[in-house]
Amino acid sequence: MKARKLAIVGATGAVGQEMLKVLEKRDFPYDELVLLASARSAGKKITFRGTEFTVQELTESAFEGIDLALFSAGGSITKKFAPAAVKSGTIVVDNSSAYRMDPEVPLIVPEINPEDAKKHKGILANPNCSTIIMLMAVYPIYKLYGVKRLVVSTYQAASGAGAAAMQELEDQAKAMLAGDQPPMEAFPFPLAFNVFSHNSSLYPENGFNQEEVKMVKESHKILGSRDLKISPTCIRVGTFRAHAESIHLELEKAGEMEAIRQALSSFPGVQLKDDTEKNHFPMPLEVSGQDDVYVGRLRWDLDDSEHKNLQLFCVGDQLLKGAALNAVQIAEIL
Ligand code: A2P
Repeated sequence: MKARKLAIVGATGAVGQEMLKVLEKRDFPYDELVLLASARSAGKKITFRGTEFTVQELTESAFEGIDLALFSAGGSITKKFAPAAVKSGTIVVDNSSAYRMDPEVPLIVPEINPEDAKKHKGILANPNCSTIIMLMAVYPIYKLYGVKRLVVSTYQAASGAGAAAMQELEDQAKAMLAGDQPPMEAFPFPLAFNVFSHNSSLYPENGFNQEEVKMVKESHKILGSRDLKISPTCIRVGTFRAHAESIHLELEKAGEMEAIRQALSSFPGVQLKDDTEKNHFPMPLEVSGQDDVYVGRLRWDLDDSEHKNLQLFCVGDQLLKGAALNAVQIAEIL
């Protein structure tokens, strides 16, 4: 799609800022760019590709003449403003959870279900970051052998909670090292030097949190099948911007390690990083700022002589493939 006039909603946020970098890196075609954020940021200057832009306040009338808008300002802002955007003829690619499970809205990982994008009626949704990163690592294996059951534990970075949360992690680390009380606003507990259950709300009826339920429901929608049983545990860890995930797969058919390695290495957007000799596997510090999802620690369960129970570890940049990059890739296939 050649968007003549492109808007970024939430341009001052952690994902919005990455969207600008991704647009530049991928040389995304557009004629005009409009940067939108809250009234707090109106008038702020952002320099992009050598041009200075003035951030404008997001209002319903801001979408007049806009062909494509990349939204990343949270679910309530999307709910409030995306309908007005669609009414103005703008195609919306939304990074929030507002419309992900709406049957009228395609939920897209371009390497997995690009054909679903054609069915859009004005809004397309970008999946949850942990879901994207997990499916990128699992889908090549899923295609090869089928997967009956998937057990995943996440190690999620601060960036999923926005720019303020990343700043909070840094401030907490400095405060704690100085022997001071850590500041706490974005998260309910200190994230620096700590690990805690994901801060999204819990469903009392089943004990899962919202992030975990998103991983299940969104995966089923993207795969177009509810057959895969998924058991997630979502955890926050004190890293800045890359999520890690430990995954167990129960395959439908017996697998071959070499074929799995081959399928992962040849899948676009996935890198195999599985150096057993040096004990060097994917890690957030090395994957931060990278487009691809890195996969390693491939191994069969110790008692699995049938080769149907596979373990793996993956890491992806939450702000890039988990958010901004995937959103721009969706716009590229329209
Ligand atoms: P602002 O910087 O003006 O608050 P993050 O996920 O990093 O917290 O970023 C959220 C993004 O959403 C920011 O760009 C923020 O703008 C924007 N945003 C938050 N509230 C609103 C609002 N009421 N209207 C428009 N944009 C908003």
